Amino acid sequence: MNDKELVAHAALEYVKDNSIIGLGTGSTANIFIEMLAEKIRSRSLDISVVASSVSSQQKAHDAGLKYISLDQITEIDLYVDGADEITNNLEILKGRGFDLIREKLLAKISKQFIVIGDNSKIVSKIGQNYPIPIEITPIAWKITKNLIEKIAKKCIVRGNMEKNAFAITSYGNFVLDCEFLYTDLNILEKEIANTPGVFEHGLFLNMSKLAIIANSGEVKKITN
Ligand code: A5P
Repeated sequence: MNDKELVAHAALEYVKDNSIIGLGTGSTANIFIEMLAEKIRSRSLDISVVASSVSSQQKAHDAGLKYISLDQITEIDLYVDGADEITNNLEILKGRGFDLIREKLLAKISKQFIVIGDNSKIVSKIGQNYPIPIEITPIAWKITKNLIEKIAKKCIVRGNMEKNAFAITSYGNFVLDCEFLYTDLNILEKEIANTPGVFEHGLFLNMSKLAIIANSGEVKKITN
């Protein structure tokens, strides 16, 4: 198994019968979804899933999983998702996809949120490899961008795949990708969240107590 398969497989151990599981987004989460479907089939488990994005919803559908929508739940047992950056203190950066709101909701309402990834996701400081994504209202995007720019080093509105317009999230919003010079991530998180026009952002602080990481075939767990 490669590193992504190893961490997805390790996360399967936390799957219990008669539970609701949140499905993540991205290549690592996709492997978990496929392995989960196989486990459910082979052991005849009664498991429902809820998706963190349009793409993981489609993946769940293709894998034949029993799907429930977000408006039918208030709590889930387990959420397994990838990440863009992970520190050894379990600060997590997410949101290269377009469903920041769903990802944050699932992380918040899960009894356990497990982050899986290969060693390329480990950073010493959040923002090292990727900008911090911030989902904002389109109706006043310039105002919100301007306010965020007062605390950011650099901020751009994310473009769509075709590079001919702004990217639109599943909820019809825009995404700012911003670089910050910061000393305290918790303070930065509050400043971003308190900016008018911000719906959600990609900082997941104090949300996961377990990350499963693989490095050249060796699996390790970061716990909190
Ligand atoms: C989606 O918004 C992100 O948070 C993903 O979880 C992230 O991009 C992980 O993708 P890979 O597993 O493909 O690296």
